[in-house]
Amino acid sequence: MKLKHCYNIDDFRRLARKKLPAPLFHYIDGGADDERTLQHNTTSFDRYNLVPNVLVDISNINLETTILGQKIDWPVFLSPTGMSRLFHHDGERAVASAACKSGTLYTLSTLSSINLEDIGGHTNGPKMFQIYIHRDRGLTLEFIERSRAAGYDALCLTVDMPVAGNRERDLRTGMTMPPNMSLESIISFACHPEWTLNYLFHTKFGLENVRHRISKGSANASSVIDYVNEQFDTSITWDDAEKVIAAWGGPFAIKGITSAKDALHAINIGATAVIISNHGGRQLDSAPAPFDCLQEIVETVDGRAEIILDGGIRRGTHVLKALALGANACMIGRPYLYGLAAGGEKGVIRVLSLLRQEIERNMALIGCTDISELDHSFLNTW
Ligand SMILES: Cc1cc2nc3c(=O)[nH]c(=O)nc-3n(C[C@H](O)[C@H](O)[C@H](O)COP(=O)(O)O)c2cc1C
Repeated sequence: MKLKHCYNIDDFRRLARKKLPAPLFHYIDGGADDERTLQHNTTSFDRYNLVPNVLVDISNINLETTILGQKIDWPVFLSPTGMSRLFHHDGERAVASAACKSGTLYTLSTLSSINLEDIGGHTNGPKMFQIYIHRDRGLTLEFIERSRAAGYDALCLTVDMPVAGNRERDLRTGMTMPPNMSLESIISFACHPEWTLNYLFHTKFGLENVRHRISKGSANASSVIDYVNEQFDTSITWDDAEKVIAAWGGPFAIKGITSAKDALHAINIGATAVIISNHGGRQLDSAPAPFDCLQEIVETVDGRAEIILDGGIRRGTHVLKALALGANACMIGRPYLYGLAAGGEKGVIRVLSLLRQEIERNMALIGCTDISELDHSFLNTW
C-alpha cells in the first residue's frame, strides 16, 4: 500500500503497522489495561447523528477559528506525543512542518526527541509547548523560560499522568525509549530493514529537552513506565499548576480534564483553555470518553475558557459532532503519528488534508457554512 492509496485514518494505521517494527507500532496504537477507554473514545461519537439542513448556499465554507490566541485555518490541531523520531527519522520536525503547512497549531511534548529550541526555529507556524512536571522542579521554570525565548505562543500542562498507565502491549513487546535491540524484538526489527537502517544511520536521540539534567531514561534505554514513575513528581497539586500559569503569564491550557469540577478548578487558577482528554486511553482504563464529558463541561464552563476535545477523533464527522456540542476545537494524536510512520512529513500532510477535506465536505452535506454556527440543532440521538 502506498500513501496515495490511503483514503482515511484507518488506512494510515494499516500502513504504519507494515512500516514499523512491532514494539513501535504497538507503542503508538495501544492503550491501558483492556483498552476499553481507547475503544470508547471513538465509539462514543456514534451516539449522535448529524442532521442536514438542505437547500443552503454552501459555496463558501469557513473553517477558521482562534484558539489560545492563535488563528488556525481549521478547527483541529496536533496533540503532544513523545519521541516522534522513533516512528520516522525526521520526527517532530516533519510533524511541525506539516502542521504549519496545513495552517494549524503544533504541540511539542516535554518528552520530544528533538529539542524545543530546534522546533521553535524550524517553522513560523503557531506552537505550544507541553509540560510534564518532573521531580527535578527546576526543570519546570527552565521550560517556561526556554519556551519564551524560543517563541512558543502557548503552554500546556498535562495532568492525567501522576503515574504511568499500565500498557500491557509495551510490556509484551519490551518497548523501551530509545529502542533496545532485545532478543524478543530483534526479529521484528530485522523484518523492517528500512526502519532499522534509518534508525542506525541517523543521529542518535533521546529525550532531548531533559537529557542535560536527567541521564537515566533520557540518554539510556528505559521503559516509558519506569521513566515516568522515576522522574515525574507525584506530589503536584492545583497550587503548583497555578504557579506555572502565573510564571508563564500567557495563553495556557490544562490537558487531561474529564470532570466539570476540575474544569472549574482550571478556570479558577487562570487557565485559558481546558483540554478534555484521557491521554488517548493510555492512562486510566474506564476513564470516560472525552466526547461523553463534553456537554456537562461546556455548560459548566459557560464561555469562561476555551474547550478543546482530545481523543478518539478519526473522522471529520467526529469533529463536527464535538463542535456542535460546544467544543471550540479538537486535537489529534495517533492519526498524525500513523501518517508520520507511513511517510514522514508527506504522510502527516496527507492525514491532515484528508481530515480537513472530510470536515469541509461534511459541512457542505449538513448545510452549514461556518463552524461558529454548529450547534445542537445539527444533532439527534439514535
Ligand atoms: C505515542 C503517544 C505518545 C504520547 N505522548 C504524550 C506526551 O508526551 N504528552 C502528552 O500530554 N500526551 C501524550 N500522548 C497523548 C496525546 O497527546 C493525546 O492525548 C492522545 O493521543 C489523543 O488521542 P488520539 O490518539 O485518539 O487522538 C501521547 C499519545 C501517544 C499515542
